[in-house]
Amino acid sequence: MPKIKFTIITLFREALEPYLNTSMMWKAKEKGIVEFDFVNLRDFGLGPHKSVDDTPYGGGDGMLLRCEPVFAAIESVKMENSKVILPTPVGQTWNQELARELAGVEASSVAQHYIILCPHYEGYDERILSLVDYKISLGHYVLTGGELPALIIIDSITRLLPGVLGGETSAEIESFSDGDNLEYPQYTKPADFRGMKVPDVLLSGNHGEIAKWRKEHETRSAD
Ligand code: ADE
Repeated sequence: MPKIKFTIITLFREALEPYLNTSMMWKAKEKGIVEFDFVNLRDFGLGPHKSVDDTPYGGGDGMLLRCEPVFAAIESVKMENSKVILPTPVGQTWNQELARELAGVEASSVAQHYIILCPHYEGYDERILSLVDYKISLGHYVLTGGELPALIIIDSITRLLPGVLGGETSAEIESFSDGDNLEYPQYTKPADFRGMKVPDVLLSGNHGEIAKWRKEHETRSAD
């Protein structure tokens, strides 16, 4: 059983699949750590055109996602352990702490199911919020839809799950990045690239000096 199942409700599955079928997300899925599932909101659309949106009461520009298709889509997949995530520019700002919370790193080994609803058009009927557990903003800018935020949320949660990153346990990742969340500059071969040289101390093999240099060059990271 996967640690986390993500069900993504979207009109644009084809925008999500390439990323989720690549690199670490693909590996996490292949290892059975996560599962990705898609629901086509259009399948729950109304009338002959399978409409999912309509104009706002009181006037105004644009179209809003309607309640009926969204409620039906969510209800079709909701389980007891499901939490619904809505990417929206007016949500709580996404950060590493929230990613950790949703990854359940601190919590038990109980499998989790996240339903991510990707809105499109100019917005959504406010009553949809009655189904939502987490309103998540990726920052103070406006995107055309929830697909990119969904990928970012999924990626940042998935990389924290045990077994996803190069065999390290999430506990090791956490302890590496714990405390003040500091990281230092790193280099790999060649030692001299177009005149840009790796600091001598890192080539010295002197572990004490290397540790000291790293401490002196720490900068804050999100982790
Ligand atoms: N949908 C549109 N803009 C967004 C943002 N900044 N964060 C999350 N969801 C969004």
